[in-house]
Amino acid sequence: MTLQIAPPPGIPAFDPERLCDDLTRQGWSQQSIADTDLLTALRDEALTLWQEDELSRAGIGRAADHELVREVRRDKTRWLDGNSPAQRGWLDFAETLRLDLNQRLALGLFAFEAHYAVYEPGGFYRKHLDSFRGARNRILSSVLYLNPGWQSADGGLLRLYDEHDEAIITDIIPEFGTLAVFLSEEIPHEVTPALAPRLSIAGWHRCNDLARAPALQAKVLPIAPV
Ligand code: OGA
Ligand code: MN
Repeated sequence: MTLQIAPPPGIPAFDPERLCDDLTRQGWSQQSIADTDLLTALRDEALTLWQEDELSRAGIGRAADHELVREVRRDKTRWLDGNSPAQRGWLDFAETLRLDLNQRLALGLFAFEAHYAVYEPGGFYRKHLDSFRGARNRILSSVLYLNPGWQSADGGLLRLYDEHDEAIITDIIPEFGTLAVFLSEEIPHEVTPALAPRLSIAGWHRCNDLARAPALQAKVLPIAPV
């Protein structure tokens, strides 16, 4: 199966083969989505939800300490429920990607969940891995950025770190149409403070069975000494 999003002339299509190569080689990938109509509809919806105060302050795991949460992340989010053509467009894209990646890499991806996220000026998300204790079944993280004309001076970079030596691997600018994808439990990452409103959709492909995610199995199910 190939991904169906057709690019306007001159803009390369999303390339699932390159995504797989990148993930296998380095655990992360970055490329552009070329469907401007879909991206614009998603941006409009995110902007409306934010302006109409329909987003909630994000949490961390089950943490009830709101001050602690505010030290870790300051974005506002809302889960996609598929109740608009734009959301269905993105969920369809994610589903096509899921099937494609399962076929190419046998990842055993089972489901996808995603939320809009808005970082208001001053918003950030400290270095973390995308997993909840006791439910470590997020395999692949993806973030689609919806900010036309974003400048590096606007901050809000997605900063990826090497899982071993904690060196910075790369900074990704949250420019309109950029899709960042990385292995949820392997790549520590942060969002540096944004100086302008920063809109995105963060999503996670999950597996349903730890046995099908060997990288997780090693961490979650250590073999007991005999
Ligand atoms: C997250 C996250 C990164 C980004 O929501 O878990 O790390 O660039 N987002 O928005
Ligand atoms: Mn994250």
